[in-house]
Amino acid sequence: MRIIEQTMTRYGYKHISLKLETVGKYLPTDSEWNYSDTMHAELIHKMLDCTQVNISNKDLSTFMIQMIGPFAFPAITLMKHDEPHIHEYTTLIMGRVVTITSEHLDGPEPGTARTVTSYKFYYRNVLSKQIARISRFLIQKNYKIVMDEDRPLREHRGLLRHMGLFYTSDLQETHGFLASRSIAEDHVSIGTYSMPKDQYLDIYKTGNYFSFDAKDNVQSRDICTLFLELSLVGKELLVFPSICPHEGAPLCRDGKTSREERKCSWHPRVLKPYTRIALSDSAYIFNQQVKFQHLNRAMSLTIEALDGDSTEWKVARVTFS
Ligand code: FES
Ligand SMILES: [Fe+2]
Repeated sequence: MRIIEQTMTRYGYKHISLKLETVGKYLPTDSEWNYSDTMHAELIHKMLDCTQVNISNKDLSTFMIQMIGPFAFPAITLMKHDEPHIHEYTTLIMGRVVTITSEHLDGPEPGTARTVTSYKFYYRNVLSKQIARISRFLIQKNYKIVMDEDRPLREHRGLLRHMGLFYTSDLQETHGFLASRSIAEDHVSIGTYSMPKDQYLDIYKTGNYFSFDAKDNVQSRDICTLFLELSLVGKELLVFPSICPHEGAPLCRDGKTSREERKCSWHPRVLKPYTRIALSDSAYIFNQQVKFQHLNRAMSLTIEALDGDSTEWKVARVTFS
């Protein structure tokens, strides 16, 4: 933050510098999103405990405990995001002022981004210069850990873009600190992506048992090209998204999640199925159609029994359009 840098200089402080950068296959706006989306800190950054104190689209103040090795560093940080391609920070590390600027720039090739982060560690005497040097060493070490945790988020967004999806927030000039706060909103859109028509999948029933594949009894199928996951739970077919409609995160299950839920891996959203279809025991002659909204587009799913008798049908077909 320039005003803080000017104040430090006016009071006779000098600084030592550090510049670090990350290049990857995503857009500068994905890097910007990553810096503004502070909500992922709790789930993604294992060594960070972050409490957000004041927040607006352009300003954020936090109190955080950053673990570096066995040491815990409390830090109060002021963040500013006035321009789309810059995030600015002022923080206190070991009682010393550090200013940080992160720039989200085009990368060396089309479809890539370069994030350049510049640090200034302020000091005024020999002792504080030593502290500034230790801070610089620790920040450099920590940067790699933090980037290893953050990079997969950006790359996943880049991959979805590559597949033709986009984010509704792309239409705004700046991705502010509040832009991703509401996890109930769906920001991923299918856009120009042309969904394959007439995708189909067979379901078998043997006795009381339903499966997608009579041989391996697999109970879940990813329809990757539609970003959907179908899951057989008991005698119901559940239709889930396979990516989180909020910001596109991969979904998962863990020990605490029931078979009827999926969990977002970036933010605390828990997803229920879009729709559920009862596969009746007796009536093999059925033809049901359900409609649902998926990634900002209407989808239609039809399930029909194709073969069998009234108690023991062999195959039902699910089709999408
Ligand atoms: S990506 Fe934000 S809740 Fe899933
Ligand atoms: Fe992060």
